Amino acid sequence: MNEQNKFAGTVAVVTGGASGLGLASAKRLLAKGAQVVIADLASSRGAAVADELGAQASFVPADVTSADDMNAVFEAATKRGTLRSLVHCAGRGGAVRLIEKDGSPGSLEAYENVVRVNLFGTFNALRLAAAAMARNEPDAGGERGACVLTASVAAYEGQIGQVPYASSKAGVVGMTLVAARDLASKGIRVCTIAPGLFDTPLLARLPEEIRDSLGRMVPFPPRLGEADEFAALALHILENPMLNGETIRLDGAIRMQPR
Ligand SMILES: NC(=O)c1ccc[n+]([C@@H]2O[C@H](COP(=O)([O-])OP(=O)(O)OC[C@H]3O[C@@H](n4cnc5c(N)ncnc54)[C@H](O)[C@@H]3O)[C@@H](O)[C@H]2O)c1
Repeated sequence: MNEQNKFAGTVAVVTGGASGLGLASAKRLLAKGAQVVIADLASSRGAAVADELGAQASFVPADVTSADDMNAVFEAATKRGTLRSLVHCAGRGGAVRLIEKDGSPGSLEAYENVVRVNLFGTFNALRLAAAAMARNEPDAGGERGACVLTASVAAYEGQIGQVPYASSKAGVVGMTLVAARDLASKGIRVCTIAPGLFDTPLLARLPEEIRDSLGRMVPFPPRLGEADEFAALALHILENPMLNGETIRLDGAIRMQPR
């Protein structure tokens, strides 16, 4: 493997980069010398975060479900230089039961909203990243770029109430190998990380005792994951040319129970 720094002088797009796993990935990419374009909702802390991260970072407000917004993100990225990396972290939860407690059927609209952000949004980010990367000169190994998508262990063990979330994340897992095959002729790799329980603002909304008890459910280490541990794997995937078409669980061996 070419041990040279793959990131120096290149550009990365990080969706959901204003918070949590995306923000940690943006920080690691910057530390390696990449320029980073953070794509996150206009309502996010993206602008303040990019300011804090310095001149090599910028923020483009974007909803990952919008073709126009995401076109603007990749235009901004390719204006900065050669886009070699995508870390796609934007995502959301949203509980829906097939039969709600009052006996009514689960909301079709709520289901669609989660799938739209997590699954359509992933396809939107991936197709635009791939189209931009395909225009790159290949490196010595023939590679033009690499993409990391974010699923969840809920793709495999969805808990009660997680029908929309689990099915959207299973869609991301299902997309991974076929995307890698689809983009192989262009020298673009695609892998997915399926995180277990990570200590990010997503979980920070829960009371501390619940977060502690969630952490203790993890066989080893018996704690929540740190966002930087996700970022470390994301960068390894981007660096290692043999990783392709695979979803990697990052979960301390947890297997979620029905509830
Ligand atoms: N934290 C965990 O334990 C955990 C576990 C499994 C999977 N994940 C997945 O990891 C990803 C990142 O989660 P996190 O924990 O960092 O959460 P987070 O809430 O800290 O960050 C998610 C970011 O995505 C952004 N976002 C949401 N909808 C968006 C949209 N439509 N367009 C653009 N940006 C949007 C949010 O504004 C936020 O900044 C998500 O896809 C989540 O499903 C997280």
